[in-house]
Parts: sequence; C-alpha cells; structure tokens
Amino acid sequence: MSKKSIGIFDSGIGGTSIFKEIYTLLPNENYIYLADSKNAPYGNKTSQDILKLSIKNTEYLISKGCKIIIVACNTATTNAISYLRKNYSIPFIGIEPAIKPAALNTKTKVIGILATKGTLSSQLFHQTTDLYTNGIKVIEQVGEGIVPLIESGKLDSIEMQVLLEAYLKPMLEQNIDYLVLGCTHYPYLIPMLSKMLPEHIKIIDSGLAVAKQTQTILSDKNLLNNSELNPAIQLFSNGNVAVLNSILNQQFNATYLDF
Ligand code: SIN
Repeated sequence: MSKKSIGIFDSGIGGTSIFKEIYTLLPNENYIYLADSKNAPYGNKTSQDILKLSIKNTEYLISKGCKIIIVACNTATTNAISYLRKNYSIPFIGIEPAIKPAALNTKTKVIGILATKGTLSSQLFHQTTDLYTNGIKVIEQVGEGIVPLIESGKLDSIEMQVLLEAYLKPMLEQNIDYLVLGCTHYPYLIPMLSKMLPEHIKIIDSGLAVAKQTQTILSDKNLLNNSELNPAIQLFSNGNVAVLNSILNQQFNATYLDF
C-alpha cells in the first residue's frame, strides 16, 4: 500500500483523457497531472527535444514523490519511454495506439490510424504495427494542426471539422471499419467524429487499456492506495488553464504552474 501520487504528464491537455480513465478505475489514488501546454505540440519536435521535455516533466513528478509515471502522450512515449525506464527506478507506463484490437477485429481488413508525425514516424510504432497487421491494410494519417486547435480551445470549431473531413476522406474511400486514435488529445474529438463517420466504423483509443495496466502494475508492486480518505487531485498547466478547465467540464479544477 502506498499513498504516494500517480504522476501523469502530457504535451498539454490531451492526457486528461487518460487521467479520467485511470481515476474512474482507481478513485482512491492521489494524482499529479502536468499539462506542458507551453511546449505543445510535441508532435513536430525533434526526438531530442521531446526527450528533454519528457525528462523535465519526469524530474518534476519525481521531486513530488510520485510512485509511478504515466507518459500520457503517444509522441513522448515513442520518443522517450525507453530512456526514462533505463534512467529512473520507478515504473513508467506509456501510451501506444490500439492497433492490436483494431487489427484483430477488422472485417474489411482495412484500418485507419490518426496520430502525430512524431508517433507515425517512430520505430516503436512500426514495430508494433508490423507485429499485428499481417494481411491488413493500415492507412496512416498525420493529424497536422489538430493538437494546436484543441490547445487553443477550438475543439468544436469549423476549422476542426474541415481538417477532420480531409483526414478521414482517404480512409472512407478505402473502406476502413476501425479508426484508431493515436494521440491522447483525440478522444475529445469523438463526439464530432461520431457524427462524421458511418455507424459501422468503430473508434478506439487506448485509455481503458492504460488504466487497467496501471492498476495491474500498482497491484503487482503492492503500491495501490486502499485508503478511503479524500484523495488529492492536483492538475497543473503551464499554458492556458481556462482551456484545460473547460475541457474538464467542472469535474476537476486545474491551476497554473510554471514548471
Ligand atoms: C502532440 O503534442 O503533438 C500530441 C501528443 C500525443 O501524441 O499524444
């Protein structure tokens, strides 16, 4: 049993989609969430810059005594998680696109993935994809421009709709039946995507799988917090806190922190 916090970081507000899944499964835990919105998006940065930012976020969470760190950003996972695991002694959980369930269940044998350039061009993404997609066509689409729109509060905007229509077009023409969301910002697009996609196309993200994995690892290491006292939930952004709070929809309250 450990009352130490679960640390979570992302390039911005998107990782809150992962935080909410973990919190639903583990409501007794204490949490510290860092939205590095000042440096968003990570998706177009060099691997070295993404690593530097991931180390900065990690060091802050470790200085606050976190017992585990969730790298709630696909781009940071693909570029930094092996380094973090090698250089720090606490466990790290990363986010990888849910290619496996899509590949196992597709009937049309064509699946689509929407992710950042940093994720789609990474070695880790290609290794995982190659492992599960024998005989399946994977249509990869870089979601250029999506993260900046979400970070600036334009989630439900005409600009977003125009971008998504352009990105979905080749996937629809090639008859995908699964759309994999390979960036933790994208689950916030599900209401818009569901209106744009035919009903038979399933949208999947990694949130629930990551929450279950977090529970398993904490349980195996005897680090779960079984205390029923009110947990401390601290969400910090070094960018626009109002946008983060509006996406959290009053369920949680974030504050500004210059980390
Ligand atoms: C980004 O910051 O570009 C996206 C983060 C992600 O890949 O989840």
